Amino acid sequence: MIATSTAVEPPLALLAELTHRCPLRCPYCSNPLALERAGTELDTAAWRRVLSEAAALGVLQVHFSGGEPLARRDLASLVAHAAQAGLYGNLITSGIGLDAARMAALAGAGLEHVQLSLQDSDPGQGDRVAGLAGAQAQKYRAAQLVRDAGLPLTVNAVVHRQNLGRLQDMIELALQLGADRLEIAHVQYYGWALKNRAALLPSREQLAQATTLVEAARVRLKGVMVIDYVVPDYYARRPKACMGGWGRRFLNVIPSGTVLPCHAAETLSGMRFPNVGAASLAEIWHNDPAFARFRGTDWMPDPCRGCERREIDWGGCRCQAFALTGDAARTDPACALSPDHELLAAARTETALPAPEFVYRQHSAVVRRASEHVSPAP
Ligand code: SF4
Ligand code: FES
Repeated sequence: MIATSTAVEPPLALLAELTHRCPLRCPYCSNPLALERAGTELDTAAWRRVLSEAAALGVLQVHFSGGEPLARRDLASLVAHAAQAGLYGNLITSGIGLDAARMAALAGAGLEHVQLSLQDSDPGQGDRVAGLAGAQAQKYRAAQLVRDAGLPLTVNAVVHRQNLGRLQDMIELALQLGADRLEIAHVQYYGWALKNRAALLPSREQLAQATTLVEAARVRLKGVMVIDYVVPDYYARRPKACMGGWGRRFLNVIPSGTVLPCHAAETLSGMRFPNVGAASLAEIWHNDPAFARFRGTDWMPDPCRGCERREIDWGGCRCQAFALTGDAARTDPACALSPDHELLAAARTETALPAPEFVYRQHSAVVRRASEHVSPAP
C-alpha cells in the first residue's frame, strides 16, 4: 500500500523523452548537455509499463518527445499502448524520418495531435540552425503527411535574435503548412540554449517589434490559426509559473527512465532523482523527496514567502534560479522583486555585441544531408 499525501493532485501531463538521438543539432535544444546514449534507453516493455502507470496515476496527456521520437522503431506501438490506456497522445517531432507508412501507422495507433518544429522560414537558415542540410524540405513533407492523415497540426516556431526579422514569413509559412495552431516561443535559456545565449538572446527592440507583429497577426488570423506566444524571461518583470509549479502538473521521464519534475531538473547539482526501475510513477509522484523539494510554498525564501503571487507563479523557475545564481532555492531572477534581478540586465548587454558562432548540440562539425540519416534500432 502506497502512503500518499491527499494534498498532492495527480499530474496532468507526462513528457516521455523516448530517446536523445536526433538527426538535428539545434543550438537551443532542451536536452541536457550530457546526452544519454541509445544503450541506456528504456525498452518497449518498460515504456509500456510507464504509460500504464501514468494513466493509473491520473495523467491525461502524453507528449512523445526526444531527441527525435521517430528514431524509436517502436513509437507506433507505444502510441497504441497509450491510446488503449486512455491517454491523449501528442507527438513532438522535427518531422525528419516521417514517411507515409509511419504516418499511417501512428494515426492507426491512435495518435491525436502532432507538433512540428520549425527553425526558420528561410530554408537555408532553417537548415543552418538545425545543423542538417535538407531538414527544412523534410518538414514541409511531414506537415503534408500530418494534414493528409487528418490530424491537427501545431507548428512550434522557436524564435531568437537570428530569425526574428523573418517572423512575419514564419507566420505565413505556418499558414501554408496548414497549421491549426502556431506556437511562437522565444528560446528559454537552459542547457544548450544557455551555452548559446549570446548568439540567441534578442534585443529589447526586437522583442517589442515581434510582440507587436504577433498581436496584429492574432487579430488578422482569428478563427483561422491560433497563435500562442511565449516571451523570454530575460525581459520579464514577473516570472512564468514554470511547469505550473514544481511537482504540481507535470512529470518527465527521460530515456534512461529517470523521472524529473521538469526537463532541465538534472542541471540542479546536489539533487537525486528517482528511476522508474526502482519505484512506480505513483510512488515517485507522491513520495519522492525530489518532487517534494520545491512543491507548494513552504520552501520559499523572501520575497516570495510573503508575496501575493506565490500561488500564481510558484516563485518562477528553479532551474533558471540555479543557472543564474547557483542556488535553486532562490527567487527566480526573472522577477523584478528578486535581489538577483540585475543578473538579467547584465545578460542583456550581450545583445549589443555581434552574435558568436553557434555551439551545436553535437561536437561533429560535419553538416550531414537529411537523406543520410538512418535511424538506428532502439
Ligand atoms: Fe513570484 Fe516570488 Fe516574484 Fe512574488 S516575489 S512575483 S512569488 S517570483
Ligand atoms: Fe526546471 Fe523551470 S525548467 S523548474
